[in-house]
Amino acid sequence: MTTYKEFHARSLKDRDAFWTEEAKRIDWHKPFAKVLDYSRPPFAKWFVGGETNLCHNAVDRHLAPRGEQKALVWISTEVDQEQSFTYRQLHAEVNRVAAMMQALGVGRGDRVIIYMPNMPEAVFAILACARIGAIHSVVFGGFAAASLAARIDDAKPSLMVTADGGSRMGKVVPYKPLVDESIRLSKFPPAKVLILKRGLDPSMPSVPERDVDWATLAKQHEGAKVPCAWLESSEPSYILYTSGTTGKPKGVQRDVGGHAVAMAASMQHIYCGGPGESIFTTSDIGWAVGHSYIIYGPLIAGMTTIIYEGVPVRPDAGVWWKIVQDHKVAVMFSAPTAIRVLKKHDIAWLKKYDLSTLKHLFLAGEPLDEPTHAWISQGLGKPVIDHYWQTETGWPVLTSAPGVEKTPIKFGSPSFPAYGYDLKLLRESDATVAGPDEKAVVVVEPPLPPGCMSTLWGDDERFVKTYFSMFPGKLLYATFDWGIRDKDGYYFILGRTDDVINVAGHRLGTREIEEAVNMHPGIAECAVVGVADQLKGQMPMAFAVLKDPAQVATPEGRMKMEGEVMQTVNQQLGAIGRPGRVFFVTLLPKTRSGKVLRRSIAALAEGRDPGDLTTIEDPGALQQIKDCLGVK
Ligand code: PRX
Repeated sequence: MTTYKEFHARSLKDRDAFWTEEAKRIDWHKPFAKVLDYSRPPFAKWFVGGETNLCHNAVDRHLAPRGEQKALVWISTEVDQEQSFTYRQLHAEVNRVAAMMQALGVGRGDRVIIYMPNMPEAVFAILACARIGAIHSVVFGGFAAASLAARIDDAKPSLMVTADGGSRMGKVVPYKPLVDESIRLSKFPPAKVLILKRGLDPSMPSVPERDVDWATLAKQHEGAKVPCAWLESSEPSYILYTSGTTGKPKGVQRDVGGHAVAMAASMQHIYCGGPGESIFTTSDIGWAVGHSYIIYGPLIAGMTTIIYEGVPVRPDAGVWWKIVQDHKVAVMFSAPTAIRVLKKHDIAWLKKYDLSTLKHLFLAGEPLDEPTHAWISQGLGKPVIDHYWQTETGWPVLTSAPGVEKTPIKFGSPSFPAYGYDLKLLRESDATVAGPDEKAVVVVEPPLPPGCMSTLWGDDERFVKTYFSMFPGKLLYATFDWGIRDKDGYYFILGRTDDVINVAGHRLGTREIEEAVNMHPGIAECAVVGVADQLKGQMPMAFAVLKDPAQVATPEGRMKMEGEVMQTVNQQLGAIGRPGRVFFVTLLPKTRSGKVLRRSIAALAEGRDPGDLTTIEDPGALQQIKDCLGVK
């Protein structure tokens, strides 16, 4: 038997042979001529010359061996509905939506923005894009109109696909008014908007000529057959926007062939999910986890994938475990925040249902604290695998790979570098290799393995500048995470090196939130920091300077203004970015060169030492922060 260590070493030493082997897991319409073209670092082109299609690999090729097997199960505890689709039915639905898209003028290389809740039609739309070679860009439903408009202007879609609404905790969340507003704000609006009416928002307005009713168009394309477009391996498959240090979201671009191979390989070596088995990934389709492990990975592997609309504690805290029992789930994937929410409920919920089919629970998206890791492992009596990755990588960077070797789990650690990643921990000061137990920056020696981002949409220069310029003169992929490796070789992630925060597993840039706060006409400037939160991991907190401080001279004035600012963030960015508190100060702590001391503010808010303050312009500013927080 190969040890994981040997497996990982071979993936780097015998790279071409390793990935040639892995590439056999998918169907190629035309075989590739070269495994990797790295003639223009850091741009890596995988499986050059090969032609394939993601939808073919996820759907069509399963028709013969498992056409009558369930491919997709949708469970909504929001609208109390459940629907299943066999591979054959999924194939028919995807073909129909592909025909609908073509009828709306969408062709190969065109962008389609999908702004939908977790529901089967969203999956059909994603796979339909893949089928015809259109590039999908799914935007998380929690984002507000202005954020959506920024993504429209970057992607310049020819079509948007949406629903009248979603539902959260039994309350309708209208989507369509937001879409209308985003289109009004955008410079490059799509020609058509395809709308699925779920009956959640009967008062939904419609724009003649532009808006198209899903059901009406679907009727016209009943039984349609649309051939898969064979794409060169490096052609873009999708764009997924993610947050960074600047306010402008980054369009992570993924390829076709590398992505398909990476997904197939990870299902085998990491997730251990095979044909006929069920997987339940609790994420939203709008996140990287949803793309990779609700849709592409499981379907490429011939699994039954469960897509869930709802929260983990409604109707009760046993709802997910009941799903595991009823659908014989073998692999489950969730986020630490969800487990922390469940931890507030009786542990008996973890024991109530028959979980004998469950092999592993995988968690990712934010740091998994040791007590939560221990609680869920012991409660379930199953291996719980913390694994670390990013939207940019599309699949795990640090993980245990039980499909290769069942290495022991250490609570709080995402184990070891995944195969294909030449991971390093480097000292921030001089890029030298850090020793055991020394906190350092996590970097990857390029080329990045298959499935990782190929570039930023429309901006090769920004791709290089953002990700490969941390250490001057050294071409290294920066994850922007701090990490540490213990003497046994286990890694631990210690948080971001930049201004990105993680709220309940949702990645947000503090700059994005600041820009939203600044949209309130009364605000002169502000600083937003992420503060440790027991449940959500981190919580944004805003410190704002008003143009007219008299507005907050009274407690009522302060409350009113705080409410208004939060409302502004709701409108600009969406409720996910809303600060837990907005405090008003008359100046912000800054260095003499004008840089806001965000790390010091966050440290104070977490009751830690604010660090070196020798460069501060006016110490009075820090005192104001302390006064707001009630710290001495
Ligand atoms: O800071 C790391 C944190 O989440 C970031 C990536 O977030 P996102 O692009 O939304 O991708 C989520 C895909 C899983 C990382 O830079 N992060 C992710 N997983 C972990 C983590 N931090 C600690 N432990 C993890 N397992």
